Amino acid sequence: MDLIHRPRRLRKNNIIRDLAAETVLDSKKLIMPHFVCEGSKKIEPIGSMPGINRVSIDNLLKDAESDYKMGIRSLLLFGIPDKKDETGSEAYSKNGIVQKAVRELKKNLPGLLIITDVCLCEFTSHGHCGIVSDGEVLNDPTLELLARTALSHAEAGAGMVAPSDMMDGRVLAIRESLDSAGFQDTPVMSYAAKYCSAFYGPFRDAAGSTPQFGDRKSYQMDPRNSIEAGKEVHTDIEEGADIVMVKPALSYLDIIKTVKDMADVPVCAYNVSGEYSMVKAMGKLGYGDEQRLTVEILTSIFRAGADMIITYHARDVVKNKWF
Ligand code: PBG
Repeated sequence: MDLIHRPRRLRKNNIIRDLAAETVLDSKKLIMPHFVCEGSKKIEPIGSMPGINRVSIDNLLKDAESDYKMGIRSLLLFGIPDKKDETGSEAYSKNGIVQKAVRELKKNLPGLLIITDVCLCEFTSHGHCGIVSDGEVLNDPTLELLARTALSHAEAGAGMVAPSDMMDGRVLAIRESLDSAGFQDTPVMSYAAKYCSAFYGPFRDAAGSTPQFGDRKSYQMDPRNSIEAGKEVHTDIEEGADIVMVKPALSYLDIIKTVKDMADVPVCAYNVSGEYSMVKAMGKLGYGDEQRLTVEILTSIFRAGADMIITYHARDVVKNKWF
């Protein structure tokens, strides 16, 4: 056959394929999430997220250290308090679970980048991400609490704060509160385009943060929209976001691409709990190969434009050298 173009020439073997690959999976680009709870010697497996546990600070230190030694240099921390109340006061208490965990991590692993999730939903009795009055989640009164939460994390030693609440104006409120206390150099990674998603189901099991009434549709984004993602991203960058995030990742690859094309800051994608658990479930049922599924999914998220990925697969990927 007289064919000039034979794209298969560059698929001939591993060496050529690797040279021609446009996207490279890199452990330095992965962020591992952790759930920390009160107490000691605790390791509570999360039923809907095989391989992920809720752990007390002593075990968090062990996990973070072994991950760090393998090459996972940054983590995202979620706290699970013993006590919850209407205003989520454990979220911004100096001795809250996150603040205590950050201080210990910082002391034991000074080289680690500790990113904290800034939100109230794990700490409020109603499970919403803000202050509630007459069944409504109030925007403006919530900002001050988020700003206090972020500042308390920075004071404990967090290297970056990541607001995930989706209140309007929270990036600016957090930036101002960090700056006024001398934390000008602490970056804010905003969950800018965060959609109201069924893929958060396993996380809410893990964090016990399912809303006690209603849903999060009045603050998280509508999955039918993409133009709105641009508005959220613009607003957050204007308010001082250093990194913007798209979440979830897999059903929102188009949004990652759009955000990458428009933003002049790095883009993070959150490969969320439901996306992780789907792969684990397929592997367990024998419906698919966990390694290949994981690598393909993470690669597609990078290919769409993510500069970094938060993923529960990080440990498996790095430990088993799936890259
Ligand atoms: C807190 C928060 C959530 C996630 C990250 N931060 C849950 C939610 O918005 O309900 C989800 C993470 C995941 O599913 O892995 N607001």
